Amino acid sequence: MRPALPADFLFGVATSALQVEGAVDEDGRGTSIWEVFSAAPGRIADGSTPATAVNHYHRLDEDLDLLADLGVGAYRFSIAWPRIQPTGRGPANPAGLDFYDRLVDGLLARGIQPWATLFHWDLPVELMMAGGWLSRDTAEAFAEYTALVAGRLGDRVGAWMTLNEPLVHMAYGHAMGIDAPGLTLLGGAFAATHHQLLGHARAVDVLRSISSAPVGIVNHHTTVDPASDEDGDIAAAAFYDAYHNGQFAGPVLAGAYPELLEALPGADFGAVADGDLAAISAPLDFYGVNFYHPTTIGAAPDNASIPFTMVDRTDVPHTDFGWPVVPAALTRLLSDLRAAYPELPPVYITENGAAYDDPADGSVHDAGRISYLDEHLDAVAQARIAGVDVRGYFHWTLLDNWEWAEGFSQHFGLVRVEPGSLARTTRDSFGHYRSLIAAIRGGSR
Ligand code: FCB
Repeated sequence: MRPALPADFLFGVATSALQVEGAVDEDGRGTSIWEVFSAAPGRIADGSTPATAVNHYHRLDEDLDLLADLGVGAYRFSIAWPRIQPTGRGPANPAGLDFYDRLVDGLLARGIQPWATLFHWDLPVELMMAGGWLSRDTAEAFAEYTALVAGRLGDRVGAWMTLNEPLVHMAYGHAMGIDAPGLTLLGGAFAATHHQLLGHARAVDVLRSISSAPVGIVNHHTTVDPASDEDGDIAAAAFYDAYHNGQFAGPVLAGAYPELLEALPGADFGAVADGDLAAISAPLDFYGVNFYHPTTIGAAPDNASIPFTMVDRTDVPHTDFGWPVVPAALTRLLSDLRAAYPELPPVYITENGAAYDDPADGSVHDAGRISYLDEHLDAVAQARIAGVDVRGYFHWTLLDNWEWAEGFSQHFGLVRVEPGSLARTTRDSFGHYRSLIAAIRGGSR
């Protein structure tokens, strides 16, 4: 059964600059925190770096042709801050802007809307040396960078997204040290939450003054269930829900951080100045939701440094990355967001996808990815029936890519990329998504 979605529903795929582009030392690009982080031994699962990634920078036309073949209405990509401002401040690097100019024009020539994310974790390293998102100044630097990008592309971009998943960049990058910049500040990482959101607010103002395209933010969301009905598990789950979901949706959609965040060990909310929350909660044109899997939370063991523990679910299938597959959680998440935030603008699913290895025979028959896609699109259709205004879906992702601390070990692509040659081969899911898009766009059910 095809999901009950209307002909004007927007279908796309999403990527991010660092994960696909490569060419990190070319055409005046500066260095991001990820090149530095990944060069340190033991940080990346397979010891790889993003230096070449999948060479999208030099294979741009081929990859744009894949998008056209897929028939998507929009392509969500990110702009690498170090390409535009090599040290994070100062004048634009013309060659950096030229690359995204070609990307945007290449999309438009193929009838695809360019959806641009301004920050997908690749902070210029000089800005990190000056404090990165722990410093309030970075929010101002982000506004200046946004002005340079919007000044060049603002007449053609279809939609802007300020930040990608400030939660993950804060928690993995600044609280737990799994991602760049590799800090382990636990509750002290809250400053990185607040300054990212302040950067979002400043960027929204800049975008509205330069470009008429819709503006939104992209947050990572999950449903949170307690591991049992014990009080300790219930309390830990409530805290985790505030940490993961409320910490980002709350300020943006309702102008307040959740009170439960005060339980964050070592948290210092001194970064929040008068007027910040009013700016952060300025109305948006849309809200981007990235959803991959639900989360189950239990009470932390005694003496733990964080007040919860993640519990694996054994009652449901998992992707090859070990993420539980529960499509109904997406419907519930969207309904919960709508119930919690009366000001919720139209929603786009800005990422959703699954990592599966190819079969041992080397074929591209990826039945797991196809059912993940079908079931999550159906979950979106169910949320619409329940009254949530979801207008589009971007699958993560077009190509196998450099998956952050996992290196090349996790394969999320509708298109396989051969290690070494980087040759692209479409998987069955690519053809499946293409047929589904064509059928829904054509209005046949
Ligand atoms: C999301 C990221 C994206 C990719 C997917 C698998 O959290 O935004 O870059 O890594 O997970």
